[in-house]
Amino acid sequence: MVKAVDSALFRETLGHYPTGVAVVTAVAEDGNPAGMVVGTFSSVSLDPPMVAFFPAVSSGSFQHLRTAKAFCVNVLAADQEALCRRMATGGAGKFDGVRWRPGPLGSPILEDAVSWIECTYEDVREAGDHFIVLGLVHELAVQRSTLPLLFFQGGYGRFSPGSFLATPDPDLIQAAQLAETVRSQVEELSAELAVNCGVLVKIRGDAVQVLAANRASVAEPFPLGHRQPIIPPLGAAFLVNSAPAEVEEWLGRSPDDSPDRRELHRARLDQVRECGYSLLAAEPGLLGRQQAALSAFELSDRLPRHERAVQQATSELAELFCPDLRPGELYDLASIVAPVPTDADLPPMAIRMTGMPASVPAEQIEAWVGRLKQVAAAAGAAMTATRR
Ligand SMILES: Cc1cc2nc3c(=O)[nH]c(=O)nc-3n(C[C@H](O)[C@H](O)[C@H](O)COP(=O)(O)O)c2cc1C
Repeated sequence: MVKAVDSALFRETLGHYPTGVAVVTAVAEDGNPAGMVVGTFSSVSLDPPMVAFFPAVSSGSFQHLRTAKAFCVNVLAADQEALCRRMATGGAGKFDGVRWRPGPLGSPILEDAVSWIECTYEDVREAGDHFIVLGLVHELAVQRSTLPLLFFQGGYGRFSPGSFLATPDPDLIQAAQLAETVRSQVEELSAELAVNCGVLVKIRGDAVQVLAANRASVAEPFPLGHRQPIIPPLGAAFLVNSAPAEVEEWLGRSPDDSPDRRELHRARLDQVRECGYSLLAAEPGLLGRQQAALSAFELSDRLPRHERAVQQATSELAELFCPDLRPGELYDLASIVAPVPTDADLPPMAIRMTGMPASVPAEQIEAWVGRLKQVAAAAGAAMTATRR
């Protein structure tokens, strides 16, 4: 008898094998487009040309697909994660708003997919709780030669070539050079208020610290060059001038993507837009958890499971973000962040104050905010002048 294998161990072990991501599509017998996401797509034979994928026996989507004579395998591109998430849901309506055209045998070819392979069913056989579907290839093409979407340990990513050269990051270099031009103002602010001040720049989905002036009596936990993923509620200061699509992308990074949560994050972003700064209250337990998750993330190769832990711990900070200041009350603050108004072609930048003492009256915080906003405005003006 074969020894029983623990299902969690099976998932965990097999999850360490990366796959591409494809959407298998067809026009079902009822005339509606059907589709499912598979990571189990594989090429099988060149002569005759055959491919395979393995749908779960329990898959409702595959029951639909199976009613068609042909199917099409669409290989997703690295920028099609949102489409993937949508196609991986069960039920009807997942093609609403999705752009596709019929292939030679009528199966949907998804717009912007890397490639498509249209097949007829050669064989469908059961293997445990999955089917092995063999498809005979009729037509195929690369429609967009770009990076594919990859799936690994339950997370999405993209291929990066193993080069001996570090990837040059022109945005980061430019931001570091511009931050250098406002060093004296930032150092003065740090000394005057006895707090830590850092200039941060948004590089894709991360906030990167490009300048630090640490004159607080408390040590700064994160060093110069530290990258922190921008996940709601954090990062609103970088999004004050962002286009709606960028705000949507930010909102989508929250592990709790419910309408209520989206509304909360949107309202906080509007608040930051209106008042020109954000506050994060200090609740040692929650902050400690988030910092521990961040450290684990950084010490790893940025593995998806570490990324999820950071997402989760960051989203737990939602209640601490942008507390309203009531006159006469005392606050423990972790950070105050003010956006730096820069040219639209520059990546968004901000100045962050940390290392403040505990139990500070609202009036004192308002005075700090005023100084921070002044320095942020002056920094923006100085950076703009430097570029002209
Ligand atoms: C990246 C990824 C890969 C997947 N790979 C497979 C697969 O190979 N086989 C499978 O049956 N389901 C796979 N799924 C799950 C299905 O796409 C989908 O969630 C499921 O079919 C929806 O439920 P339903 O089929 O009952 O409608 C995958 C999901 C994702 C997100």
